[in-house]
Amino acid sequence: MWLLAELTYRCPLHCVFCYNPVDYIANRKELGTEQWLDVLRQGRKLGAAQLGFSGGEPLLRDDLEDLVAEGRRLGYYTNLITSGIGLTEERLRRLADAGLDHIQLSFQDSTREMNDFLSSTRTYELKSRVAKLIKQFDYPMVLNVVLHRYNLDHVERIIEMALAMGAEYLELANTQYYGWGLVNRAQLMPTREQLRKAEAVVEACRERIGNRMRILFVVPDYFEGRPKACMNGWGSVFLAVAADGAALPCHAARAIPGMVFPDVTKESLRDIWYDSDAFNKFRGDAWMKEPCRGCEDKHKDFGGCRCQALALTGDAANTDPVCSKSPRHGELQRIVVQAHKAQAADVLKPLVFRSDANSRLLSGM
Ligand code: FES
Repeated sequence: MWLLAELTYRCPLHCVFCYNPVDYIANRKELGTEQWLDVLRQGRKLGAAQLGFSGGEPLLRDDLEDLVAEGRRLGYYTNLITSGIGLTEERLRRLADAGLDHIQLSFQDSTREMNDFLSSTRTYELKSRVAKLIKQFDYPMVLNVVLHRYNLDHVERIIEMALAMGAEYLELANTQYYGWGLVNRAQLMPTREQLRKAEAVVEACRERIGNRMRILFVVPDYFEGRPKACMNGWGSVFLAVAADGAALPCHAARAIPGMVFPDVTKESLRDIWYDSDAFNKFRGDAWMKEPCRGCEDKHKDFGGCRCQALALTGDAANTDPVCSKSPRHGELQRIVVQAHKAQAADVLKPLVFRSDANSRLLSGM
């Protein structure tokens, strides 16, 4: 159903919670226009209906308009997932002419200071101008803000900002600890009190705002007792193609050691989807161990998130420790407690911003 084209890992921002691989610098290869067009055609033949363009920053690709136009011609619903950097009026006109259906714009916060700090750029004003442009072109306004310890107390202001911008839809996504977010986990971890207050604010705002703007609050995994049905199940509805042509069942899957992800320039998307080891590895329920195997919810949550199981237990086939039935659930709680202790004692390491230099460092280059 979903084909996500991660057109490039290049990005003008340096967000501390970016989900891109921390070693992205080791792999700067990008598919060419013809190769992407071929991927889009194959994906549509396989039945994909939603097409997302993301990155990195997809606007850094000069051929984005051509890809959007072909996506639209093929019958996809086309989505641009962007920081807004590079979205000038001229560019937006070209994208609209190409038939782009939908734009999701990210903000880091409602305040210029925090927005600019978390992305290590001066982009708040620019993003605000892009938000106006998107409205001017009559697109539904979809804002995305990642939440964590540094901005959870601003939730009400974030909602007001989204309303003032005319957003129809606001996604408040508590940080998922993959990629750079995992590196900065202790710094980003919110307190329970922050989360409780933020949820109460969101509830009150939903009541007050009604249908004017829909607010989605993506729950913070580490504070839950039941895991999320990540990717709606591995190899079920979602296929991402990374900038270099690797086909991924989930955009964070590259962190899983020992997995070989098929290359779309060497194999057909059909063979990759149906027959590759990577896509079959956690498909269905045969791979499950206990307690997932005997769990009545195994077809609801699919054992949670494979990438999280790996990050927290060292084995992607384990039950996601977010689940209270996981024998490792206590470790998750210890991670939260340790993060809070470090915050209280003011002994946190400095945030690691996503950058080429830090990517080199973290990948030992
Ligand atoms: Fe990879 Fe959940 S993020 S399976």
